[in-house]
Amino acid sequence: MNKPKIVIAPSLLSADMSNLGGELKRIEDAGCEWVHIDLFDGRFAPNLSFGPKTVSDLRRRTELFLDVHLMLFDPLPWAERFASAGADQITVHLEAGGETASVLEAIRAAGCRAGLALKPDAPAEAPFPYLDQIDLLLPMTVYPGFSGQRFLPEVVPKIAQARDEIERRGLQVRIQADGGVSTKTAPELARAGVSAFVAGSALFGSNNLAAAAADIRQAAANAQRKAP
Ligand code: DX5
Ligand code: ZN
Repeated sequence: MNKPKIVIAPSLLSADMSNLGGELKRIEDAGCEWVHIDLFDGRFAPNLSFGPKTVSDLRRRTELFLDVHLMLFDPLPWAERFASAGADQITVHLEAGGETASVLEAIRAAGCRAGLALKPDAPAEAPFPYLDQIDLLLPMTVYPGFSGQRFLPEVVPKIAQARDEIERRGLQVRIQADGGVSTKTAPELARAGVSAFVAGSALFGSNNLAAAAADIRQAAANAQRKAP
């Protein structure tokens, strides 16, 4: 098995929203590759966060890879808005309704990488029909909505099943984890095939974001190295 490069994606949901520019600088200085941006409609998950203007303003300030996670129903028009705003990758939920295949196609047609996310209770095989249309698979390890929730370990075997299917079909799909990622959970996630680690509270809740990101990266890399 080839070992994909680990990327760390701090989730702005846990950042100081009154100082996003400063938080972006901390993320850059910490050597993180991606910025994870969670978007809500208040219905798919009970929260609200940013809008397309946030993404276009962030785009002007940074070269970092903007990883947009849409937790909203009927994502097609929003995916198009966030693509125009400068997102590099747009992830939509299988549970979001609408034609998932068409949304994924529209994301790629807009020049972005396409991601597919699932809630923790989704069957392991649910994303399989879409694997050749995506660049990223995100089996969530918390229910969408908030930072700081408890990690759901029952998702880990489903991640491993997805990794096996991706390998069996020879596809280039990166697996992302989002929800309760920490130095404690990163090793089992890395062993199951995760290479993109979203972290909110573990990074922004620490007084040294750079050290916290480096610790998660190290924990994942050690486990990845030992994996078969
Ligand atoms: C939850 C979001 C996550 C969240 C993760 O709906 O998708 O990105 O910020 O936060 P932690 O790492 O604190 O679980
Ligand atoms: Zn997210």
